[in-house]
Amino acid sequence: MNEYMKNCDLAAIITALGGRQALQDLLDVGPSAISNYLARGELPQRAHAPVCEALRLRGYQVHPGSLEILGQTQLAGGTGPTTNFRSDRPAQRVLLIVGGGIAAYKALEVARRLQDHNVEVTGVMTTGAQQFITPLSLAALTASQVYTDLFSLTDEAEMGHIRLAREADLVIVAPATANLMARAANGLADDLATTILLATTAPVLMAPAMNPAMWQHPATAENVARLANRGIQFVGPTAGDMACGEDGVGRLAEPAAIVQAALNCLSADSQPDDLSGLHAIVTSGPTVEPIDSVRFIANRSSGKQGHAIASALAARGAEVTLVSGPVSLPAPANVRLVQVESATEMLAACEAALPADIAVCAAAVADWRVENASSGKLKKTGNGQPPSLTLVENPDILNSLSTHQLRPDLVIGFAAEASDLQDNARAKLARKGCDWIVANAVTRSDGSSVFNSDMNSASLITGETAIDWPMMTKAELAVRLVNHITDHMADRLQAATLRDLVSQSASNRT
Ligand code: PMT
Repeated sequence: MNEYMKNCDLAAIITALGGRQALQDLLDVGPSAISNYLARGELPQRAHAPVCEALRLRGYQVHPGSLEILGQTQLAGGTGPTTNFRSDRPAQRVLLIVGGGIAAYKALEVARRLQDHNVEVTGVMTTGAQQFITPLSLAALTASQVYTDLFSLTDEAEMGHIRLAREADLVIVAPATANLMARAANGLADDLATTILLATTAPVLMAPAMNPAMWQHPATAENVARLANRGIQFVGPTAGDMACGEDGVGRLAEPAAIVQAALNCLSADSQPDDLSGLHAIVTSGPTVEPIDSVRFIANRSSGKQGHAIASALAARGAEVTLVSGPVSLPAPANVRLVQVESATEMLAACEAALPADIAVCAAAVADWRVENASSGKLKKTGNGQPPSLTLVENPDILNSLSTHQLRPDLVIGFAAEASDLQDNARAKLARKGCDWIVANAVTRSDGSSVFNSDMNSASLITGETAIDWPMMTKAELAVRLVNHITDHMADRLQAATLRDLVSQSASNRT
């Protein structure tokens, strides 16, 4: 189950970070999680990298294994000396492609921080990137040659671009400019960076950075969607003041966030199998309710959010049954996909998949279906009168799972609301009988819709508390949700183990 870092001096860490709220914000958890960590004197394993990063950025020297604070360097901001710590496991290899943007200098910090996690970094720079930072800086920080030219004979002799692409465990693009993403989305191979992206079989993580209008442009949105559909992971961009003087979404994610996302992508070591042995049911996509043999009632759900959750759960070792309405997405890796059409079929598939430990209902289920759907094609009557359709209510899958005899330990619903987001979501949570609800707005301030978008912002409502997640990719939101699920299940299992021990000891006494 969940790996915890034992015996770390959590009180000292909290003080060094500037208080409990700072740790809450960093780990994106509520106050009760911090109380639990303090009570146990432990931090979950997933907290290791961000806490280590945050302490270092505050100028502390930290032992990466135990998180022991060894001292404080004079310069806060991560410029202090690094420790000599090296783990025994073989280093993993990251190819860091630096694109041409003002944020390119932050790639240097990413390169440096990755090495603190026993990751070897090889740099590749586009021509544009070299306008902002020099290959020499990146080479000095990575202690390795930096590659810039597709047609360099020496490089081709010593390290062909195919080998360069294939030997990496992960390819990171930071900053990923609009231009670089557009070329990658279209399969161009007109420089070393795009050739590597086409040739690599390793996972790819992109950290976009650009002007907010460029990020919002439909062309960029389409390119991001195409890349995401091919399995490319994204971290950021985030909102804030831009170097160009504008304000909005488009800033490169912080180096610590990029490093964390990279570690998540990299290996089982950084992606603990902390849900292994647990079964999760995820519903995703729309349901399609027939009117006749060719017409139907449906909605615009693409399945992107539900599929991302199924994928994130499987990546943490859960056995996942993904029950999906018709979507055009491929099945995520290591997931059992059950394809359905209607709400009735979705309910039957979910019930057949029970028992389960976790259920996440992200599907947009049609509330009604046509009572007597015609098996043929409805014809015009000729008298100008449209056919009358009688709608009947569909079964509520979330409510059925929440009240089922085999109720999963943790049942999570979604609420897509057009107004009064949190109030309506709380009412829905009570009505449906689930444990948590993820509230996302149907329409955003810029007029775009959550349906079929690659981005989402939401509030996770767990009883009295609500955690707000800013706009991020649906994949990132899925990982955040799964982090909360993992913490919750670890607590449940610890309590269950304790109960088992108590009842065992009671039965031993009788
Ligand atoms: O698929 P994407 O394009 O990525 O979009 C994602 C999403 C917007 C569909 C997703 O994030 C989301 O919000 N899903 C719930 C959408 C919704 O319309 O919810 P609702 O208010 O109708 O239902 C609330 C909850 O009850 C949901 O968990 C839903 O799955 C569930 N439900 C609803 C009706 C029903 N008959 N059975 C259900 O299980």
